[in-house]
Amino acid sequence: MRHIKWFDDYDTGIEDIDTEHRRLAEHLNEFFATCDSSCEPAVMVRILETLLRETQRHFAHEEEIMAKVGFPGLDGHRVGHTALIDELHDTIDSFRAGVTAELTAKTTQMLEDWLLHHILNEDKKIGKHTGAID
Ligand SMILES: [Fe+2]
Ligand SMILES: [Fe+2]
Repeated sequence: MRHIKWFDDYDTGIEDIDTEHRRLAEHLNEFFATCDSSCEPAVMVRILETLLRETQRHFAHEEEIMAKVGFPGLDGHRVGHTALIDELHDTIDSFRAGVTAELTAKTTQMLEDWLLHHILNEDKKIGKHTGAID
């Protein structure tokens, strides 16, 4: 089963952001675990909707923090957030239409990629900007 294990290296050094990232990773792990056991469309949609809500809240908070610390890449970062939210919406629509092995495999990969790649490639730049990490 797919499971995201958190490493200190994923931290941005900004406590609020890191706490929220860990919570998002827990939601992804819940998705992976449920996917393995039942994969009931209604259950999967509910988990993905919770993930969407938490992600929207996190992105708004993160954008607020970026504005507060004068992060120069805010506009581009926001575009990335919007694209991820759009992708999550599309994924939820696909799950509503029916669950297939191909869809769950594709979604599992997408969720893991976006969380980790976005954090490692983009969010850590915020911590570097504030000097919270090297
Ligand atoms: Fe971000
Ligand atoms: Fe983030």
